[in-house]
Amino acid sequence: MSDPDPSAARPPRRPRYGGSNPRRFEQKYKEHDGGRYPETVAKVIASGKTPAGTHLPIMMEECLAALGLREGSIGVDATLGYGGHAAGILKRITGSGKLLGMDLDPLEMPKTLARLRALGFGENTFEALRCNYAGLAKVLAERAIDGVDFVFADLGCSSMQLDDPARGFSFKFAGPLDMRMNPNRGLSAADWLAKVTTAKLETALHEHADEPQAAELALALAGRRFANTMALTTAVRTCLSGRAEEGVELTIRRVFQAVRIAVNEEFTALDGLLRVLPDCLKPGGRTVFLTFHSGEDRRVKKAFQAGWRDGVYSSISEEVVTASPQERHLNSRSSSAKLRWAIKA
Ligand SMILES: C[S@@+](CC[C@H](N)C(=O)[O-])C[C@H]1O[C@@H](n2cnc3c(N)ncnc32)[C@H](O)[C@@H]1O
Repeated sequence: MSDPDPSAARPPRRPRYGGSNPRRFEQKYKEHDGGRYPETVAKVIASGKTPAGTHLPIMMEECLAALGLREGSIGVDATLGYGGHAAGILKRITGSGKLLGMDLDPLEMPKTLARLRALGFGENTFEALRCNYAGLAKVLAERAIDGVDFVFADLGCSSMQLDDPARGFSFKFAGPLDMRMNPNRGLSAADWLAKVTTAKLETALHEHADEPQAAELALALAGRRFANTMALTTAVRTCLSGRAEEGVELTIRRVFQAVRIAVNEEFTALDGLLRVLPDCLKPGGRTVFLTFHSGEDRRVKKAFQAGWRDGVYSSISEEVVTASPQERHLNSRSSSAKLRWAIKA
């Protein structure tokens, strides 16, 4: 064995951290590289957490069953994310089936596409489209697809987005106040808050998050520029000083949710999707939605009920389906999920 040549280029070193357990998102390299460290990933999941850089698909079996998938089905996953549901769908429609996967996120989509290709889903079976799901009808028209067998939508953010401090979605981590699912488009949360009027912020807090202290918070926060996520958190705490900590934390959560929904115009996109949906489904085609808060669920419920009354849908879910106690225990993010389905007449 010869001595190593000191002038030879060395492989780059991983950044070091001080403690024995990685605490920061970027330090959790074993979770980010789950394929090489399956035991670490299994341990993290068993402890009720989501491994860094991944997303655990919620109510997977319930969603797949409600979509009525068959070999050869053609359909859409409107919210591709990590591709967990997409992989489950693709396994059931193999053969002549085809899935179109949509997502706004330019940072996660290439990784998800690579993962699904590595699982063996080629171009004939799976196509990834970086676009807004509100444009579903246009996407199908461009491909001369008259109607699809199913449309699936798992609303909101992925764990990759929420857990990465650099994306600024979470009040739990210090990071830039961004919150854009597509960071190349529109205003960041910091810019939006700096421009928003008190009246508009009050409406957003009320309509996007049912915030009871919307008026007080809007007065304190609208038109201010916050340097980062922690500055916004501190401003909410200052506004609510003297109130019980538990309630304050819930309010901070709701403020972040309301701002995120505004920045990404989530309700405009959802209303757009619900409007074009019936025309995009074949007769007998199915749609399944997972929602995570009342603002989303109200919209889906009303659209399905109106479609059923008008004879557009032949059948809709009467009760919402929720995650099992076991899934809630393993994945706390499943606790607020509600599944609704509808079948095109
Ligand atoms: C909850 S995650 C989906 C997770 C996915 N079902 C999985 O198993 O990995 C929601 C995804 O929807 C995307 N998204 C949100 N709004 C969207 C929109 N209007 N158009 C397209 N994608 C959107 C987000 O970027 C995010 O990746």
